[in-house]
Amino acid sequence: MPRFPRLLMDSDALYRLQQSDRCASAAPTVGSMSTQQADLVFEDLAESYVQYRPVPPPSLISVVVDYVKQGRGDDLVLCGDVGCGSGQNTFLYSNHFRQVVGVDVSVQQMAQAHTHANSVTFRKGSAEQLPFPDASVALLTCCASVHWFDFKPFYAEVDRVLKPGGALATYGYHGCTPLYNNTSLRELFLQFWRELDKYWTDGHQHLWAEYTDLPQLYPDDVQIKTSEGRFSTETDVTLDIILGYISSWSAFSKLTQAEGKEAAAAFLHNCKQRLLKAMGTQDENVPMRRRYDYFLRMWRKPAPSESLYK
Ligand SMILES: C[S@@+](CC[C@H](N)C(=O)[O-])C[C@H]1O[C@@H](n2cnc3c(N)ncnc32)[C@H](O)[C@@H]1O
Repeated sequence: MPRFPRLLMDSDALYRLQQSDRCASAAPTVGSMSTQQADLVFEDLAESYVQYRPVPPPSLISVVVDYVKQGRGDDLVLCGDVGCGSGQNTFLYSNHFRQVVGVDVSVQQMAQAHTHANSVTFRKGSAEQLPFPDASVALLTCCASVHWFDFKPFYAEVDRVLKPGGALATYGYHGCTPLYNNTSLRELFLQFWRELDKYWTDGHQHLWAEYTDLPQLYPDDVQIKTSEGRFSTETDVTLDIILGYISSWSAFSKLTQAEGKEAAAAFLHNCKQRLLKAMGTQDENVPMRRRYDYFLRMWRKPAPSESLYK
């Protein structure tokens, strides 16, 4: 049974949201991948997402919310989280907005979201056909998701649904940094990523460029790179959490689909052995840490007379 919170309706915008039913029934293309194909990849990953994916740091959420306030004042009614997955980013806005709606092509992903805020709801839909009325949204967020979208229809939808002064915030991270005894195992970790090269999409290049290479949307454009060290989050983990995170990669899901479960298990086992060797221990339960460094790119929609985007 999906555990979706109920939708609260307490403004004109929310009323119009209820009236609108623009969920994705067609399958627009997403780069080289259709939304149906993306759904299949992420369906397999639903459980590992909720367990192993990181939650963005509060410092990042504050910067995004302040940016929206600069453009919309206290009009924090509706926030849409596009490509919300299992909702770990969606819930972070529940204290700031009257209504937060997570949107994803994968119902399986959203079904993993825990209901701990009744201002949050989830809807099946695609980035290229957003389930929001025109000029209804103050903030759209995309956490680790925009590189999956087809930019032309997505940007057209962003421009349609945002209120003037509203914002699109895109952010993400490129893998994690495992730490053992304060020593970084990042280089080894990146080797694992590269070994799955043929299973990453072209869109993943945008992650490595920290979204600086995304097509331009509006002139008011804020970029904060990981090198500024502003949005890091570090937690205590054990090796199984690092391996679980690797098993949540779309490239890992594709490895499993293409080469079978045994090949995927062998890949993970090999990662484990190499990590243990680098750490100089055979004890899988030693305490470790895991750091994610986030980058952020966001745009503010100008007033209609200023708009350059068509
Ligand atoms: C890497 S996950 C990120 C999930 C979540 N935002 C997080 O922070 O972990 C990307 C998500 O985008 C969704 N997705 C991919 N293509 C999409 C599209 N065209 N429209 C909406 N969601 C899409 C996938 O189903 C998946 O849940």
